[in-house]
Amino acid sequence: MAQTAILQPTEAMLWKLYVRSVWRNKGLGRRMIEETIRRLPPGVAVLRTEYYAANERAGMFYRKLGFVFDFIEEPSYQGQKVRSAYLRLALPSDR
Ligand SMILES: CC(C)(COP(=O)(O)OP(=O)(O)OC[C@H]1O[C@@H](n2cnc3c(N)ncnc32)[C@H](O)[C@@H]1OP(=O)(O)O)[C@@H](O)C(=O)NCCC(=O)NCCS
Repeated sequence: MAQTAILQPTEAMLWKLYVRSVWRNKGLGRRMIEETIRRLPPGVAVLRTEYYAANERAGMFYRKLGFVFDFIEEPSYQGQKVRSAYLRLALPSDR
């Protein structure tokens, strides 16, 4: 499962990338990111994503795919502060 939104003509956001546990570490997450990028409108030059900062496995996965750290945000959710890490991936112009 993966969800994307076009934020502005040059930027898109990826949320909720999820591979069922029995299918993990078989290349599906990488393929979903590649397919997401392939489906983006041509003018999109940056793909952003966000994950709970405590989810170190997600952070390692995204970094392996070339995403770089952008910023940390700590919004409140149901009275609790949630630490979210935002990453970005520059997309090649000839994709
Ligand atoms: C994060 C997630 C989507 C990765 O999907 P996946 O199908 O297991 O990942 P892949 O098998 O495609 O791995 C792609 C690359 O990342 C690397 N990687 C994957 N998980 C990793 C981890 N925990 N630590 C380090 N590297 C990791 C793989 O080694 C692979 O590298 P390679 O292609 O050079 O061999 C999956 O683990 C998942 O659904 N997790 C729970 C939900 C989640 O955390 N989503 C993301 C935040 S919303």
